[in-house]
Amino acid sequence: MTTPPAHDVHAAWLPPEAFRAIGSRRVFVSGSGTVRDEVAQACAQYGGSVVSGEGPVDLVLAVSTAEPLPAVAQAVQGTAGEDGFVFARHDGVTVVLADDPAGLLYGLFHVVRLGESAFGAARPAELHRPATRRRMVDHWDNVDVHPVMGQVERGYSGGSIFWRDGGLRDDLTRVRAYGRLLAASGINAISVNNVNVHATEAHLLTDRLGDVAAIADELRPYGIRVHLSVNFASPIALGGLPSADPLDEGVREWWARATERVYETIPDFGGYVVKADSEGQPGPFAYERTHADGANMLADALAPFGGVVHWRAFVYNHRQDWRDRSTDRARAAHDHFAPLDGRFRDNAILQVKYGPMDFQTREPVSPVIAAMPGTSLAVELQVTQEYTGQQRHVCYLPPQWSEILAFRPWGPGGRAVADVATGGGGLVAVSNVGDDPYWTGHPLAQANLYAFGRLAWDPRLDPAAILDEWIDLTFVPVTNVDPGPLRRTLHAMMDGSWRTYERYTAPLGVGFMVRPGHHYGPDVDGYEYTPWGTYHFADRDGVGVDRTRASGTGFTGQYPQPWSEVYESPEQCPDELLLFFHHVPYEHVLHDGTTVIQHIYDTHFAGVEEVAEARLSWEKLAGAVDPALHDRVRELLDEQLRCAEEWRDQVNTYFFRKSGVPDARGRRIH
Ligand code: GCU
Repeated sequence: MTTPPAHDVHAAWLPPEAFRAIGSRRVFVSGSGTVRDEVAQACAQYGGSVVSGEGPVDLVLAVSTAEPLPAVAQAVQGTAGEDGFVFARHDGVTVVLADDPAGLLYGLFHVVRLGESAFGAARPAELHRPATRRRMVDHWDNVDVHPVMGQVERGYSGGSIFWRDGGLRDDLTRVRAYGRLLAASGINAISVNNVNVHATEAHLLTDRLGDVAAIADELRPYGIRVHLSVNFASPIALGGLPSADPLDEGVREWWARATERVYETIPDFGGYVVKADSEGQPGPFAYERTHADGANMLADALAPFGGVVHWRAFVYNHRQDWRDRSTDRARAAHDHFAPLDGRFRDNAILQVKYGPMDFQTREPVSPVIAAMPGTSLAVELQVTQEYTGQQRHVCYLPPQWSEILAFRPWGPGGRAVADVATGGGGLVAVSNVGDDPYWTGHPLAQANLYAFGRLAWDPRLDPAAILDEWIDLTFVPVTNVDPGPLRRTLHAMMDGSWRTYERYTAPLGVGFMVRPGHHYGPDVDGYEYTPWGTYHFADRDGVGVDRTRASGTGFTGQYPQPWSEVYESPEQCPDELLLFFHHVPYEHVLHDGTTVIQHIYDTHFAGVEEVAEARLSWEKLAGAVDPALHDRVRELLDEQLRCAEEWRDQVNTYFFRKSGVPDARGRRIH
């Protein structure tokens, strides 16, 4: 994809029209800065005005310490706190009061989201505060185009919005626009380079720090702090030291100096992200040190400046022998990290993928999340759709994320995953944007990024309600048609799309079955005899991975009660995770009365039918959305249908051949 000129870039959830309600009113804004600029721009377009507050006013956007503060704002009570705001409608005036500029910005975008309804009936003061302090996206962007992974690792939206031809882009307009979109969804932190830090990217920490500073300058007006992925071996590669041992004084000193320079250049720098001892990245194991030693060294270097290190828990043996049934990749993060609980500094955040494997369509929640009460944990989600259709398939992910966030590792009455994350390191997700005109390749994949920000702000939000917000911001203001059918069609296509995707891909939580390397499309045995630890063990009698304590790898024992017992038992284990935890015969009967083999056939036929329906409904929207966008989605739906059929036929045929059991409904299996 070539880079579009800035004016051709899709406005995503902030089209100018979304500001009509604000821009057509008399608005008092305290202070100068982004909120004032936004309001002034909207008023210039829609005939409103920025007023002094002495005369009539429709909207007050003020920091609580502002002077003068219009009388109506003084009547509104409430302490907003960091990033928060109080929202009220009082005496015919809409009031947003915040304690800091970031809170005011979030308040502004709240009014944008409400549109005209922000100016309706009176509303008592409502306090809006983010559930967690840090709401972060990680970019897996490379400065150089990597020979295998391309410019954006697991990127499905073209090139990087930051980097081009081995350097920072000359024009950073899009970075600023990106910051604006992120702020409107609630995100306030961004890591700008791939966790696999290759040779060129390692230099962003030192001699190419100016590039990072330039990105930080674009994002700062929108309250977003920049973080950097660093290579653990930097003292050797960049500093010429003989070692990167985290307990070596020279190494510690090197990190302290490097970090000091970072803060001299970028005073509000967020911190480091580290992938260590994972998939070939260097780490503390080389020096027989623990991951707490490694993380704490960087935490100590960052602490004087208020920075944090996000240390990733994605550590496992990627050179496993497939013949070895005792090694279980699912166990790895817990085996490595649970014994280190309580040994990480306060400003070290352990960043844990939501599942024990790797961003699969369906996995149990990682047992690490329940195992480290003395450590600040961040839960990592994947907005980029590596294993969920690569932004060629419609797959609205918030239903999956909500399930994860609402999961209670200690059983009913215990804390939920969302509580652990919001009480600790917050939520992090791998971004899905690139230099594609629609930002995300598939235009409907924009909704995933928007929704991630909203869930990071408030994990209890309902996915369908977030989708409504996104539709109302993105499409409704720019269409002149009745929004009802548009909204209904998008809900019909998107609400259940994650489950649809699950139906036509790997069954019952077993995972993978994707083409090795790029991970798109089906290949049932693609990873079966590889070193990656991602197997399904299908044979003529049955399928699934025995992870029980009784006869398998013992992974079930990493969960607290009741899940440890629930997952151990094939009778109690939730159907959707059955093959993740158990190797069962094809005739095993699920809770709904169907056998495993029949479930495989039924879901694969159903999944394809659902995609075909989505495609037909989209056809009918021609004329209701922008024609170019309509065409793009239609082409992608054609591809999704083709790919879903391929999945259906390969999976069904594979299991028919293995088991010899015909489809009870006599449908065509090849
Ligand atoms: C997945 C993905 C890699 C990525 C890794 C990670 O395995 O395929 O591209 O580097 O996750 O999260 O570090």
